[in-house]
Amino acid sequence: MTLKGARLLGDCHAVFAPPPFEQTFARFLQGKPVLVPFDYYFEEILGKITQFLEEGDVAFLIPGDLTFYSPFQALVDTLGEKAEVVPGVGTANAASAQLKKTLDLPGVSNRAILASPRTLGDAENAPTLQELAAPGVTLLIYMNNIPLPQLVAQLKSGYGKNVPIAIAHRLGLPGEEIVTGDLGDIVGKVGQRDFFNLDGKDRRPALTLVVVGETLAAKVDGTWWDYRRENIWKHRN
Ligand SMILES: C[S@@+](CC[C@H](N)C(=O)[O-])C[C@H]1O[C@@H](n2cnc3c(N)ncnc32)[C@H](O)[C@@H]1O
Repeated sequence: MTLKGARLLGDCHAVFAPPPFEQTFARFLQGKPVLVPFDYYFEEILGKITQFLEEGDVAFLIPGDLTFYSPFQALVDTLGEKAEVVPGVGTANAASAQLKKTLDLPGVSNRAILASPRTLGDAENAPTLQELAAPGVTLLIYMNNIPLPQLVAQLKSGYGKNVPIAIAHRLGLPGEEIVTGDLGDIVGKVGQRDFFNLDGKDRRPALTLVVVGETLAAKVDGTWWDYRRENIWKHRN
């Protein structure tokens, strides 16, 4: 969370927070009504917000922020000027930090693609993950609903070779697990763990991000640094 987010959350009157954020941010929420946003249909939640606004500001504590795959756009659009969006730390940022890897690396990866098989499945002519996976691509897969062996088979076919992969589960939350490997060994390393909630009764996407691409295992020496020093940063008279 940013400092601005923390200040607004501390000062607000009521909070909507899906689990587990009411626990992880409990110290900002003391004494405030805390509700789960998805317990309400849209008109109902608008009514609740209007009611709470009579007492003070209302905050939504959401995973990451609005940037990618946020279900909160309809609320922001409907509330118009009344809504303020505060940037936060998204899953892509948290994963990069945890893996200690930049997701594009000159000479190794020249583009990062964010995708989800759930939303790709919505459109008729949308590309498959296999079509998005290619040498030079770092792929970030949100809300995966494909069993891991099948996902790995699609990725192998797209990349045309074995590449590194990381499965980041509950980043920054209690129960965090990060499994790193490559397309050849990741299925064995994950074993029976249901990181994507494919066996669960509810249909909620698991808090798991898949990151794939050569940048995850690339080692970088100081050559590029010195090139930049020489050609970009050096003082010229
Ligand atoms: C509805 S999207 C929200 C993404 C959010 N806007 C962001 O950028 O972090 C939910 C998906 O984001 C990913 N995700 C969210 N929180 C996560 C976490 N703590 N650890 C790993 N993945 C997470 C998972 O792929 C999950 O299925």
